[in-house]
This record gives sequence, C-alpha cells and structure tokens, in this order.
Amino acid sequence: MTGVINESSMMPQLCAKLNHTKMRNIKIILAFAAFSFFIACGGGNKKSTTDAAPAEATSAEKPTDVTSYDPKRGEGKFNEQNVMVDATLNATMAAAGEKIAGVKCTSCHKMTEERLVGPGWKGVTQRKTPYWIMNFITNPDPMIDKDPELQAQLELCLVRMPNQSLVDEEARNIVEFMRKNDGVK
Ligand code: HEC
Repeated sequence: MTGVINESSMMPQLCAKLNHTKMRNIKIILAFAAFSFFIACGGGNKKSTTDAAPAEATSAEKPTDVTSYDPKRGEGKFNEQNVMVDATLNATMAAAGEKIAGVKCTSCHKMTEERLVGPGWKGVTQRKTPYWIMNFITNPDPMIDKDPELQAQLELCLVRMPNQSLVDEEARNIVEFMRKNDGVK
C-alpha cells in the first residue's frame, strides 16, 4: 500500500487515472526509455569527441606546415646567405667530400640516377639548392616529415634516411663532391 501512496504523491494526475499494474508498466517503459537515451547520448558524445579531435589537430597543423616549410630551402640553419658556392669547382673540398661520402653515404646512394637504398645522386645539385642539401643531410628527420618530395621518396625507398651526424664542413664538402658528380669543373 505504501508504494501506491508514494506513486500518487509523485505523479498525482497520472495516478488518479491509472491502477497499480498499469502504473508499474509505465514506470518500466520510462526507465527503459531513459536508460537507452542515456546510452545513445553517451555513445554519441564519445564518438563525436574522438572524431572531432584528430580533425581539429590536422586542420590546425596543416596551415602552419604549409606556410613555415620552404621546399627550396628546407628546414635548418643553412640558407642563400650563409652557403657560398662558386661557379667553378673547389677540387680540394670535393675530394674531402668524396672521402666522407664513401664512409657515410655510398652504402645507400649511387653516383648514377639509379636508386640503391636511397635515390641516386646524379642531378641532385640541379634539382636541389646547396642549402637545401646541407639542411637535409645534417638533420634529415624534420624535413622528411614536411617535404612532399622526400615523402614521395620515402614511399619508394621504404627507409628513412638516418642522421649521419655530419658536421657543417663535411656537409659542405659533400655538396662540392655532388657538384663534381654533376659535371661542375
Ligand atoms: C641507410 C641508407 C642511407 C644512408 C646511409 C644515407 N642515405 Fe641519403 N637517403 C636515403 C633515403 C632512403 C633517402 C630518400 C628519403 C627518405 O626516404 O628518407 C635519401 C635521400 C637523400 C637525399 C635527397 C636526394 C634527392 O634526390 O632529393 C640526399 C641529398 C641524401 N640522401 C644525401 C645523403 C648523404 C650526404 C649521406 C651520407 C652523409 C646519406 N644520404 C646517407 C638513405 C640513406
């Protein structure tokens, strides 16, 4: 009897018209409805937040990447001002570059256009600026992440070029050796 009294005090208008069993049925239906609404919204919310998070992250990253990455210069400290290249070859530097390349690079790179592990070096000084090459070979990782052409190469080569811990002078000498390989005299 106490149950009936409680129900009628909670919902007097409904209870006035309904008997005890009908009331119970309605309560069960309401409980179900409320429960499934909760599940649906809980699931829905969760889904929309996980969906939204990566979309926001990529749309926030893209504009900064596009504006900050210069495909002609690459990323790093080298630029048009601090890398000087003569029209003629510096044979001493090229010879030093060939030596260090023999130790650190030629296991993956041929001097022809043919790919070994990485792309062949023939023509690289015509495709790329000397400062792009120096930025890349002294610190490949950030550029592989951003440069569209390096990403295309990565897809072909399936290997990320490792950081070979070159000092600036070694990098500059290797550029001179690459120029020699491309026919600069
Ligand atoms: C373990 C193999 C490996 C070694 C060692 C290596 N590279 Fe690479 N290199 C690659 C791969 C692979 C790529 C293509 C980009 C990528 O997937 O990271 C590449 C790309 C390059 C490119 C860009 C070529 C282009 O046509 O745009 C240059 C320049 C380069 N490497 C120079 C060097 C130099 C200089 C050294 C030595 C100091 C060196 N690499 C050592 C694997 C290597």
